[in-house]
Amino acid sequence: MKIGLLGHGVVGSGVTKITDSCKVKKVRRLEVTRILVKDESEMTDQRCTMDVEDILSDPEIEVVAECMGGVEPAHTFCARALEAGKHVVTSNKKMFAEYARELLELAKENSVSVRYEASCGGGIPWMSNLERIGRLEQVNGFRGIFNGTTNYIISRMEETGAGFEESLAQAQSLGYAERDPSDDIDGFDVRYKTTLSALKAFSIYVKPSEIPVYGIRGIRPEDFVYAKKNHLAIRLFGTGQLYSDCAELWVMPVMITDMDVFADVRSNFNALESSSATLGRAVFIGQGAGSLPTAHAVVQDLLDIYQGQDSLIPELRRIPVNNDVTPMRFYIRTEKPEFFAGISESVEGNVILTKEITVAKMDDMMKACGDESAFAAVVMK
Ligand code: HSE
Repeated sequence: MKIGLLGHGVVGSGVTKITDSCKVKKVRRLEVTRILVKDESEMTDQRCTMDVEDILSDPEIEVVAECMGGVEPAHTFCARALEAGKHVVTSNKKMFAEYARELLELAKENSVSVRYEASCGGGIPWMSNLERIGRLEQVNGFRGIFNGTTNYIISRMEETGAGFEESLAQAQSLGYAERDPSDDIDGFDVRYKTTLSALKAFSIYVKPSEIPVYGIRGIRPEDFVYAKKNHLAIRLFGTGQLYSDCAELWVMPVMITDMDVFADVRSNFNALESSSATLGRAVFIGQGAGSLPTAHAVVQDLLDIYQGQDSLIPELRRIPVNNDVTPMRFYIRTEKPEFFAGISESVEGNVILTKEITVAKMDDMMKACGDESAFAAVVMK
């Protein structure tokens, strides 16, 4: 099966490393014949080209593997590949979270597949397991640690007492962080992955911007002091819960008991949990980022296409996001504790523990408060 690879950076180079060296017979049949690169400096291989037409107009190329990152031109190239009757595999969460509906529709019209295992959870077989569970029963909830960079920062601060800036710099020097660290630390990366998990788990399409997002930019060593004193661990979660007429979806730091399975997930690891009726809770842990783990997921998708295993393309429903369903307690550290008096259960200096309120209510209060330095987390005891 001839493959055109778009992008030869962190993920793309991992793909050629695996496909060029793997001895498994079926993997040997996955032949990357052209590689789209950005500039001359990347023309390291005779398969490399800087002209996408060498891939999109080549009738022998059956599959396009998009590992470029960024929204454009990745989206246009994927749409054109599908229109040309080529299957598409993508590792690009940002692009696919924005354009999944359009690209899945195009795939259906052209009787080809779009697979996106690597877009979420790196090497962890998350999407494929959601799909397997969905063959038997509705996945009704998911939650977990979807971002390796922030988990690295959080667990380093937790273990060493180090500050946020220093831990972010360390994550960047290890190559975990996105080029723009805001995507990681402000939670946008988790929001894309939450959008895509909701799509796969619930067969619903929501826009990423509909999901409230709180990141870890404001996290400080004193938040870990509070957490430790109360036998809690801090993690950044993306979550989804499906109801008959709406879905609760949010991205936010959580404080969980230090006995929880997620508290044991450290460094740049991810841990993703699904819930459904007969399987109950199932947790998948592994490397959520990095060249070879993510490339592994791309190659798995390529193998599935080679073996003719069509990914189900479900009828997607539009459903309202409603975060006014489940009341929870929140930890809020703020310079304006008096602003939260109406919802406070206890106040200790600049730290508030709220009464049970919903994410929607908390979101309204945080926005109205206007304290840029505030840090909020759901307390899940
Ligand atoms: N920056 C992302 C992370 C890369 O740290 O999880 C993988 O999506």
